[in-house]
Amino acid sequence: MPIIFISGALKGLGWMLARTYARAGWVVFGGVLYPDEVKPIPGVTYIKHDQGTLTDSLEVMAHLKNEYGVEKLDVVIANAGVLISEASFRDAEPEAMDITWRINVRGPLLLFQAAHPLLHKDSKFVVISSSRGRLGQHHYEGQALYAQSKAAVTFMAAKLHYEEPDLITLAIHPGLLKTEMGDKATRFHGPDDPAHSTEDVAPKILKLIEGAKKDTISGQLVDYEGNVLSW
Ligand SMILES: NC(=O)c1ccc[n+]([C@@H]2O[C@H](COP(=O)([O-])OP(=O)(O)OC[C@H]3O[C@@H](n4cnc5c(N)ncnc54)[C@H](OP(=O)(O)O)[C@@H]3O)[C@@H](O)[C@H]2O)c1
Repeated sequence: MPIIFISGALKGLGWMLARTYARAGWVVFGGVLYPDEVKPIPGVTYIKHDQGTLTDSLEVMAHLKNEYGVEKLDVVIANAGVLISEASFRDAEPEAMDITWRINVRGPLLLFQAAHPLLHKDSKFVVISSSRGRLGQHHYEGQALYAQSKAAVTFMAAKLHYEEPDLITLAIHPGLLKTEMGDKATRFHGPDDPAHSTEDVAPKILKLIEGAKKDTISGQLVDYEGNVLSW
């Protein structure tokens, strides 16, 4: 059976992706900050993982190998993310800069590095990014640090596509979601699109990742329907 690791699987999109993959017959490992708080899903094994630390991703991958005998990962999804500052760049708080960068940008990179020995030809490394990080978007005032972090992580997926000839990479914009983060974004700038349920979006993301090939959408920023988004 194919094997996947998903970060930020405690709630929101990560939780629904874990459920969707488990129902599709995958072996699912979900990284969560607090394993005791998990709403369990049959077929999903939860592991403590803080994407903001220097060591957790390495420890998780060692745990998968040593405790569960995992020799290869077919898909890794860096889904965990935070939106903690509403500020424009002018007023952005230094501590929020650090936290946002640590979790949204450094975290996915450390996750990739830690997972790398378990990735094989045609494995897929996916980051859940956002159209907020596009240079050509209609720019909103505020939430600048979040947008900056998503631009950076989209860049990482694009560059990894070239650096790793055997790896399929994707940055996915999941659209505005009915999640804690989506509600926060909507409260801040109002809905620019209708918010989607994670139940609708997660199966589309699974299908999109399944169909992604090195010579099709690898390295691109795509929405959950698979449309390539410009930068
Ligand atoms: N919601 C949207 O409209 C939207 C739009 C575009 C992109 N996205 C992206 O989609 C992804 C999922 O968002 P969501 O809407 O599901 O957000 P959410 O409801 O806020 O859930 C985020 C998840 O990430 C976890 N998390 C936060 N910090 C973490 C860390 N340091 N290490 C590990 N896990 C951590 C949270 O755990 P705790 O609950 O324990 O804090 C939670 O399980 C994010 O990358 C987000 O940027 C969301």
